[in-house]
Amino acid sequence: MIIAIDGPAGAGKSTISKEIAKRLGFTYLDTGAMYRACGLYVVSMGEDPSDEKKVKDLLANINIEFQNSRIFLNGEDVSLKIRTPEIDEAASKISRLKSVREKLTELQRQIAKDKDIVAEGRDMGTVVFPDAEVKIFLDASPDERARRRKRQLEESGQIISFEIILHQIKKRDKADSTRALAPLTAAPDAVIIDTTEMKPESVIERIIDEVDKKRNSKR
Ligand code: DC
Repeated sequence: MIIAIDGPAGAGKSTISKEIAKRLGFTYLDTGAMYRACGLYVVSMGEDPSDEKKVKDLLANINIEFQNSRIFLNGEDVSLKIRTPEIDEAASKISRLKSVREKLTELQRQIAKDKDIVAEGRDMGTVVFPDAEVKIFLDASPDERARRRKRQLEESGQIISFEIILHQIKKRDKADSTRALAPLTAAPDAVIIDTTEMKPESVIERIIDEVDKKRNSKR
């Protein structure tokens, strides 16, 4: 079974997806981390993540792997390095490029092959896994998402003002939802959940209900 969870930054995708994967015994696939790893690589080579030609050449040599929910870029654990405002921006830029999307879509499908997966991202239900059995689109108000992101950054020792985070979130939302390829949008058959006023547990229960419904309808 594939459970596709899409939505903007800060909607709660990671917390919810990880917990659902744990409870159901599914593999968790964080596709945002893959775009971030590509962004990190290009930035660390001193190149511009919007330069399609350069990026395509550079990414021909990279290897991305997950082990126990940690992400490895050419053998190095980069799980922490990819969570900075600089890489937020680089990932958003690189995710517009056709060659990058094709490469990562292919890799995501390979990882999911013959597995039960909870896949989170922006285009899981629309492009990568259009036949996913359960499709969820998580959303929340920009203010609430900025508050959550601020807390998350603080936990990793990064102190950034609420206003700056809110501005970045709005900018990234716009870039992610207006790009030509695989823009951030809910699949027509996705269940849309606004998590602004919800506790994570209620969101998890709501999604597990959808999974149960699907399983029962298959019997
Ligand atoms: O979910 P995240 O914030 O870690 O994602 C980082 C960036 O990657 C974000 O700007 C959107 C992009 N992304 C994407 O285009 N497609 C995905 N499936 C996942 C992330």
